[in-house]
Amino acid sequence: MTHLTPGDIPETTAQFRERDPINAEGTQKAGATQESMSTSNTAQHRDGEVQQVVQQSLPDSHNLRRLIVAITGASGAVYGVRILQYLRSFSEIEVHLLISPAGWLNIQHELQMDRASIEAMADVVHAVKDIGATIASGSFATEGMIIAPCSMKTLATIAHGIADNLISRAADVILKERRRLVLMVRETPLHLVHLRNMTVVTEMGGIIFPPVPAFYHHPQSIAELVDHSVRHTLDLFSLVPALTPSWPGLRSQLR
Ligand SMILES: Cc1cc2nc3c(=O)[nH]c(=O)nc-3n(C[C@H](O)[C@H](O)[C@H](O)COP(=O)(O)O)c2cc1C
Repeated sequence: MTHLTPGDIPETTAQFRERDPINAEGTQKAGATQESMSTSNTAQHRDGEVQQVVQQSLPDSHNLRRLIVAITGASGAVYGVRILQYLRSFSEIEVHLLISPAGWLNIQHELQMDRASIEAMADVVHAVKDIGATIASGSFATEGMIIAPCSMKTLATIAHGIADNLISRAADVILKERRRLVLMVRETPLHLVHLRNMTVVTEMGGIIFPPVPAFYHHPQSIAELVDHSVRHTLDLFSLVPALTPSWPGLRSQLR
C-alpha cells in the first residue's frame, strides 16, 4: 500500500474551512440563526419578560456542545485527524483535543503532519499531563469523548480506572457521569486481556468501535474506507455531516 505523504492531509483549519463546502454552509447557518434570533429579539421588545428569555437563548460559548477528541499511539492516526476535520463543519461543537506522546509519534510516522496544523483544528488543546484541566472534572459539561485511535494501553487504563493522565482521567469522568465514550481501539491479533478490557468498558457503558473496514459500500479509496468509520462514529453523537469534505490527497493514493 502506498505510504501516506504530507500532501495527503495538508490542511490547516483555515485552508480546510476555505475550501470546504460544508463549512461554508455551516457558517451561513450560524449567521442565519443569529439573524433570526435578533429578529425575534426585536419583535419581543414590547414584552420585557419574553425578551429576557430570548436573550438567554442567544448563541454564546455556553451554548456550544463540547466534545473531547483524543489521539493515542495506536496505528490509524488518520482516524483521529479525519474526525477533527469533520468536526470543523459543525459550528456548534467545541472541540477539546488531547494527543498522547505516542500519538504524536504515530501522527508524524503515518501522516507526517506537523503539530500546529493538527492543533489548529481544535478549539481547546489540552496537555496530556494537565490533570487539573477543565475536562478532568465532571462539573464541566461535555457531550462525550472519542478516542481515535485508542491503544491497548489507554484501553487498559480506562478499563481499570487508572486515571494517570488527562486522557484516561477524562474518559473516567465520561464514564462516571454516564456520558458517551467511543473507543476506536486498534490492535491485531487480540489477546485475552485486550478482549476482557473491551468487555469491561462495554459493561461500564462505553462503546468499543474498532475501525474495521467495511466493503459493502464498495469503497474506491482509502479515504472512503476511513470516512465510513468516521461518519459512523460521529453518528453516535448525532453528528451527521451533510456532505463529505473533499480530501483529494488520500483518494489519489489508491492505485
Ligand atoms: C508505529 C507504532 C505503531 C503502534 N501501533 C499500535 C497499535 O496499533 N495498537 C496498540 O495498542 N499499540 C500500538 N503501538 C504501541 C503504543 O504506541 C504504546 O503502547 C504506547 O505506550 C501507547 O501509549 P498511549 O496510549 O498513551 O498513546 C504502536 C507503537 C508504534 C511506535
